[in-house]
Amino acid sequence: MFAVHLVAFYFTKLKEDQIKKVDRFLYHMRLSDETLLDIMARFQGEMERGLAKDTNPTASVKMLPTFVRAIPDGSENGEFLSLDLGGSKFRVLKVQVSEEGKRQVQMESQFYPTPNEIIRGNGSELFEYVADCLADFMQTKDLKNKKFPLGLTFSFPCRQTKLEEGVLISWTKKFKARGVQDTDVVSRLTNAMKKHKDMDVDILALVNDTVGTMMTCAYDDPYCEVGVIIGTGTNACYMEDMSNIDLVEGDEGRMCINTEWGAFGDDGSLEDIRTEFDRELDLGSLNPGKQLFEKMISGLYLGELVRLILLKMAKAGLLFGGEKSSALHTKGKIETRHVAAIEKYKEGLANTREILVDLGLEPSEADCIAVQHVCTVVSFRSANLCAAALAAILTRLRENKKLARLRTTVGMDGTLYKIHPQYPKRLHKVVRKLVPNCDVRFLLSESGSTKGAAMVTAVASRVQAQRKRIDQVLALFQLTREQLVDVQGKMRAELEYGLKRKTHPLATVKMLPTYVCGMPDGTEKGKFLALDLGGTNFRVLLVKIRSGRRSVRMYNKIFAIPLEIMQGTGEELFDHIVQCIADFLDYMGLKGAQLPLGFTFSFPCMQTSIDKGTLIGWTKGFKATDCEGEDVVDMLREAIKRRNEFDLDIVAIVNDTVGTLMTCGYEDPNCEIGLIAGTGSNLCYMEEMRNIELVEGDEGKMCINTEWGGFGDNGCIDDIRTQYDTEVDEGSLNPGKQRYEKMTSGMYLGEIVRQILIDLTKQGLLFRGQISERLRTRGIFETKFLSQIESDRLALLQVRRILQQLGLDSTCEDSIVVKEVCGAVSRRAAQLCGAGLAAVVEKRREDQGLEHLKITVGVDGTLYKLHPQ
Ligand code: BG6
Ligand code: GLC
Ligand code: GLC
Repeated sequence: MFAVHLVAFYFTKLKEDQIKKVDRFLYHMRLSDETLLDIMARFQGEMERGLAKDTNPTASVKMLPTFVRAIPDGSENGEFLSLDLGGSKFRVLKVQVSEEGKRQVQMESQFYPTPNEIIRGNGSELFEYVADCLADFMQTKDLKNKKFPLGLTFSFPCRQTKLEEGVLISWTKKFKARGVQDTDVVSRLTNAMKKHKDMDVDILALVNDTVGTMMTCAYDDPYCEVGVIIGTGTNACYMEDMSNIDLVEGDEGRMCINTEWGAFGDDGSLEDIRTEFDRELDLGSLNPGKQLFEKMISGLYLGELVRLILLKMAKAGLLFGGEKSSALHTKGKIETRHVAAIEKYKEGLANTREILVDLGLEPSEADCIAVQHVCTVVSFRSANLCAAALAAILTRLRENKKLARLRTTVGMDGTLYKIHPQYPKRLHKVVRKLVPNCDVRFLLSESGSTKGAAMVTAVASRVQAQRKRIDQVLALFQLTREQLVDVQGKMRAELEYGLKRKTHPLATVKMLPTYVCGMPDGTEKGKFLALDLGGTNFRVLLVKIRSGRRSVRMYNKIFAIPLEIMQGTGEELFDHIVQCIADFLDYMGLKGAQLPLGFTFSFPCMQTSIDKGTLIGWTKGFKATDCEGEDVVDMLREAIKRRNEFDLDIVAIVNDTVGTLMTCGYEDPNCEIGLIAGTGSNLCYMEEMRNIELVEGDEGKMCINTEWGGFGDNGCIDDIRTQYDTEVDEGSLNPGKQRYEKMTSGMYLGEIVRQILIDLTKQGLLFRGQISERLRTRGIFETKFLSQIESDRLALLQVRRILQQLGLDSTCEDSIVVKEVCGAVSRRAAQLCGAGLAAVVEKRREDQGLEHLKITVGVDGTLYKLHPQ
């Protein structure tokens, strides 16, 4: 009995002594709680630096945006291929993500070796090898000749600007293939796959292993928002608020950030805790000076750290009686699996002896105890350091959410975490101590990171399919050069029909004579009243022209024309106009003055003289009754008479295009064309009298109001009209009329955009598939909104705000699509207008028999003036 006690006492004493000895020797590796809290705070600072735009370039913890925005919601489905490269094993997989309803994932996989000559050889050969393994897998599983989306788990730091692209920043761990750094690994692999003609694979997502792990675990536990790998290497990712990610545009929602915490300390910030063993290990590694945090933690390095310590202790006579074996001198002879075996609870000591004997040593009982404790110190430090960094992430999550307590799940994976008997519980305990206000569940990813990568790929492939449908719609608005030349040719033909007496009655481009035969020459003078009706604003003006100094002074007032008047009776409309004139005269103190009046009336009028104009038909937003076929000058005169308050001498009626031509011609004698790109679209130009068959005389020129808005009313451009153009036309005041105008002018562009948005929403591609009341409202996209949305300087957030103003509650993705739709519609408008203008300019050049024509185009209209492009 006594003997048993004696042995026990002896053993306890022996153990204590050995532990004390090792603890003394490795004093520097044992980190106090204060030190851990300090490291945690340092890592918080590193995260800030990595996230901010100006400090990111020099930050050692890179905080890489991953373009993974949401955790799985169970709606993912399909069949995917997956590659997992960069951990301890290289795998190829086929993943079947559940059909509707059933949250089930089936996987088939195959491991392939990664020999050193491949992973440290030539980069192109590495990718060829990976492609060959994939081909082999598809061959054996009979998957060839079928199209597959693929998710690539690539466990190295990559800079991403989208999900399906990643530029390798640097190799880490065991890899060092030449010529890969700074290149996009997705396109490298895509290229390598081209050799296999019978393989149709589309790489849709590149994910880090941490991201894959987080997504795998999140599929089972929606609270999971962090992924940690403690394996060959170590790293973590987590969901960060978009508003904190400077490097990616947009503020809405969250995005997963791959911290690449392995590089923590690469700027020297952990020198105070690094030991001589860490430095020696680093010098002998593939990437000296890099991944210093990782080298204190992960599986690739733990065994080597233990070896370096044992060697030093042996040299100092503290172990093995001062004996060292050649194996103990050899790099890599102690591996993580050895450390794990040594630390096993019961068989630990026996394992230790066996391992040491295998290393050619003759350990005593005391040696085995000491060696076991060395392993404990080293792996404990590893868990402590991981815990400190993880605690920093958890604190950040809690603060982002402004919570007093955070409940969250951390997805875990990696060989060290999985095979080391004590590691998980030590890590969990320290994390809970460092962040007492977080309730953390640690969830081991049973199926690795590939299941998660398949989720990401599933979402990406859904997004890709949606994108394809959006592109199909936008493509309808992209006109080729040939199509535009064709439009130009057709416009040219219509111009000729309109001018010829025989074809004029049937012509859609009316080519109306204006009886304006000359341009201002600067001798004009006097005081005039003017009305400007038919554009965005109705204005009454007083214009004073002085000849000598060529100066023009204008006073004007904008009046509203209520919808019920625009679309009421003709009498009401003209009475309202005269009422506005009366208000203006009053306002200017000109009551009773008898002034000549010019009437800019921006609608098609058949004129027989400068002061007579019969309205052919309303266009744009007007539809007052009893006006079409009437002389609007007479109607105005009668309204003035009815009021019986003042007398005005109406001397001219001009179209807005003509007014614009004259305004610009006053400045530039080369100006021979007037163009309006506003609420409506139209053009006038100076034509040779001999070409105008409707008017007697062959001498000189006369301005022709083309009324080109009616171009296409005979169906000649129906080949380029879309279903959206048809819908806009059908919902307009003048269906079937002004087809060209409806593709080019401000009043309709917004409507086309609205029709497209409705269609995309119906297809579930926008606004979460919900068509709001606002979107059903005609006319919400005024020219000014279109112009704002398309402004180059505008950040997405501002686009969203404009859409919000319009009552459209959009996400960032929605805003991008809306902006693209606006762009496609307005670009087509400008191109079509350009093609029409080219037809007129060419005609002028040919008519004058010129090789080269120099001409100025006077332009006005809100679309032209407000639109940024
Ligand atoms: C204005 C002219 O500047 O532009 C009007 O004064 C013209 O005569 C108008 O009708 C055209 O543009 P919008 O965009 O107002 O239709
Ligand atoms: C290395 C890689 C990192 C990876 C980690 C775990 O640190 O740089 O991308 O996540 O190893 O495999
Ligand atoms: C409409 C009118 C036309 C006017 C143009 C621009 O097309 O019919 O007369 O010039 O709009 O305002």
